[in-house]
Amino acid sequence: MAFPPGFLDELRARVPVSEVVGRSVKLAKKGREYEGLCPFHNEKTPSFTVNDDKAFYHCFGCGAHGDVIRFVRETQNLGFVDAVEQLAREAGLQMPEQSAHDVQKEAQSRRLTDLMQDAATWFAARLQDHSGQAAADYVSKRGLTAQTIAQFGLGFAPDGRQRLRQAMTSKGWKDSDLVETGLAILPEGGGEPYDRFRDRLMFPIRDSKGRVIAFGGRALSSKAKAKYLNSPETTLFHKGRTLYNLDLARKPAYDTSRLIVAEGYMDVIALSQAGFAGAVAPLGTALTPEQITLLWRMVDEPILCFDGDKAGKRAAQRALERALPLLKAGKSLRFAMLPDGQDPDDLIKQSGASEMGALLENSQSLSSLLWDTLLENADISTPERRAALQKTAMNMAGEIEDQSVRAFYQSDLRAKLKALFYPAGQSTGGTQRGYGNNRRGSWAPPPRASQFLKSSALARSDSPHSASELIILVTVLNHPRLLFSHLETLANLN
Ligand code: UTP
Ligand code: MN
Repeated sequence: MAFPPGFLDELRARVPVSEVVGRSVKLAKKGREYEGLCPFHNEKTPSFTVNDDKAFYHCFGCGAHGDVIRFVRETQNLGFVDAVEQLAREAGLQMPEQSAHDVQKEAQSRRLTDLMQDAATWFAARLQDHSGQAAADYVSKRGLTAQTIAQFGLGFAPDGRQRLRQAMTSKGWKDSDLVETGLAILPEGGGEPYDRFRDRLMFPIRDSKGRVIAFGGRALSSKAKAKYLNSPETTLFHKGRTLYNLDLARKPAYDTSRLIVAEGYMDVIALSQAGFAGAVAPLGTALTPEQITLLWRMVDEPILCFDGDKAGKRAAQRALERALPLLKAGKSLRFAMLPDGQDPDDLIKQSGASEMGALLENSQSLSSLLWDTLLENADISTPERRAALQKTAMNMAGEIEDQSVRAFYQSDLRAKLKALFYPAGQSTGGTQRGYGNNRRGSWAPPPRASQFLKSSALARSDSPHSASELIILVTVLNHPRLLFSHLETLANLN
């Protein structure tokens, strides 16, 4: 809905950011601002500030920034309108009147979700009664408990062209409603609408608020043309903007900072039953940018699961390429590759939940997968081929729209390529490499000098060296060139 001018400003003016933030973050007053530990990243010293005069929060650590509406959206995973509604209620501010058109559209949607709920209830009852015996056997053969079946609202669409239609029309639903929601199909050549889902195990697809907006149906007969059949795009259901199980996964994902993205309904359900409640799936298509944005509202680095076979690897690489333009500071994807030919459901069944957990723990970062992908068929045997690899790498990094993330990818890739082309300690064409003088006479500091210092006796307080000696040694470590010009002096420091 559109808000009239001034309404949002009024809302921001009435609700101090510190009041809303202060409910979940311990804030300390510092001059005109408040300070606290950032709720958007892990930190031990506060870099999160709230300024009521300017009506925003800002984190100097992770860059999180926004107004009170944004804070509510991000921390409670609410849509814009819902966040505004909640804040307006608190502030005692009347929500603006909607346009007649908006009101009508919303009323129609609400009506249609009622129909979807009626259908889901009817399907669920069929799974329980004798008409669904085969389906019930199938579900228990796949290891789903009664609790899981109830939690996910699984059902059964009997084989027959008029079963659901008859049940729904006898409840007062019109054919036009059944067709609009995709539950029934209107034959092109004319005639009676008929049930879309027949002889299928039914998975209700819910929106972020838990309302049924579509169905996925798994064929029970091996003769069926499509293993899975989903509702078409309707006024309620936009496949590319929906994630299966988002409503139930949201809280556990937010609480545990872990969100798994599987490929199918059965995977999500098996994961959930095995204790991984923070799991979602796209609806039979590759992840869309809208879906990735939804994922990032819950966690910074959702973990995508892929089959470890060739096709799965390709799918992971495609997901990586699609995510590149979208990457933001702190927001990325991780990749968990499953054993050949297995999906999460298979893996849990064969190897148990702990194996699944281990796989998630060992998931790969996007940048690491990008590097592996680049190296896959890389040939670096000639300068031209090295240049080609560098070009591909830079082109991929160039896909990243966020300026700072892109810059880090570019410099990381350059460093990795350099290390690949000229491994430390190896000589190329007679030039001594390592930490000595290179051809341009510039010096690279030795790697891990800081780690060396931390662990060395030099850094310990009981070290026999004086502070000035220490400073000299640190300086030389960081500027090894000095070593040669001052070798003798240094040798005299004991
Ligand atoms: P899979 O074929 O990998 O099935 O499809 P699955 O999830 O492992 O299911 P089971 O274990 O055989 O029962 C993954 C997802 O792709 C979509 C569905 O969303 C499914 O959950 N899909 C698959 C379709 O939309 N149509 C199909 O014909 C097949
Ligand atoms: Mn499966």
